[in-house]
Amino acid sequence: MLKNFWWPLEFSHVVEEKPIRVTALEQEFVIYRTSNGTANVMSDLCVHRGGALSDGWMEGDCVVCPYHGWEFKPDGACSKIPAQPDLNVPKKARVDAYPTIERYGYIWAFLGDLPESERPPFPELPHFDDPKFRTIRGTYEWPVYYERAFENSLDAAHAPFVHGGAFGNRENPAIPDYQVTEYPLGGEMVVTLEPPKRNIPGIWKRLYKDDRPDVKTRAAFWMPCMTLLEVTLPMGLMVLFNFHIPVNEFKTITKWTQMRTFFKGKWADGDALKRVMKIFDQDYPIVVAQRPELLPYDIGAELSVKSDGIQIAYRKMRQKYIDMGWQIDIHRIKTEIGREEAVVIPSPARKGIPELEKAWVLKEVPTTAPKKKE
Ligand code: FES
Ligand code: CO
Repeated sequence: MLKNFWWPLEFSHVVEEKPIRVTALEQEFVIYRTSNGTANVMSDLCVHRGGALSDGWMEGDCVVCPYHGWEFKPDGACSKIPAQPDLNVPKKARVDAYPTIERYGYIWAFLGDLPESERPPFPELPHFDDPKFRTIRGTYEWPVYYERAFENSLDAAHAPFVHGGAFGNRENPAIPDYQVTEYPLGGEMVVTLEPPKRNIPGIWKRLYKDDRPDVKTRAAFWMPCMTLLEVTLPMGLMVLFNFHIPVNEFKTITKWTQMRTFFKGKWADGDALKRVMKIFDQDYPIVVAQRPELLPYDIGAELSVKSDGIQIAYRKMRQKYIDMGWQIDIHRIKTEIGREEAVVIPSPARKGIPELEKAWVLKEVPTTAPKKKE
């Protein structure tokens, strides 16, 4: 899990004014909207006694901790301590607040402490703002580390074996040679695949005249956790974005968006949903059985071939950021007597605002030491 990226944490439509809790990257976050509708993401750990702000409520534009009523502004600073109304609220009374952007139907938080000028750019994703699509969204839960689910979404060579019949063709499983085109924070590949010629399932039958023509397929990824599968069918474009959000080392929630330019009535949403679920359900046992559970750091630890090029591009990019010290150590800190210690992903205020630099009570999550060059 990498810090210092824009992480999509929740669907926009799920978040209202009332604070909610979202668990991601082994951290608890509280997400809420202020009175003008702006979404905010903060650490869900009250600095007083560790209460969960997400169980609290709004008072004006402040979140109120449900335990002793401390109020926190959207920038994380405490503005009121009800038991001590005469006390000047100390500087240390603050929680980490993360820069938040709402886009593409998701709420994104910059989880890291870099100042704005040093942050990776906000990802430019295709299609989302295009009105010619009909969109459905949903979630899928996997008991796996998110990078295994992520790489599976990019993997072209598994389709004939895992999805044979639907869109994989076991008679012709060859993946044509392709180049990976790199983006600033990701990459893409485009291949033309031959679908099985036999039975076309379900309502799609209506749109096919004779045989099934070859299918242009694009797979793409963006750091830290987003993938795209884009399929050009005779009747139009079908697009599936998967945002693989690590809950912890052993659990991932994929918050997906599927878009189509055909069968745009609501009546076809159920069929579209079934197709997405069928693909995930076919992937599920394969991905769950993968060993090791964590993606190896060394590229040579698993044997890759040419058709794995896009995953290799991801692994290299990820290595670069691990080597920069951006990987959150996923094993939680244990204290001497073996209890877990509360740690948080550092927010920009920890570094960017000098008078606050020593104001933090809660510790930063540890990071993996950069690998030494041989
Ligand atoms: Fe939050 Fe006391 S724990 S106010
Ligand atoms: Co699959």
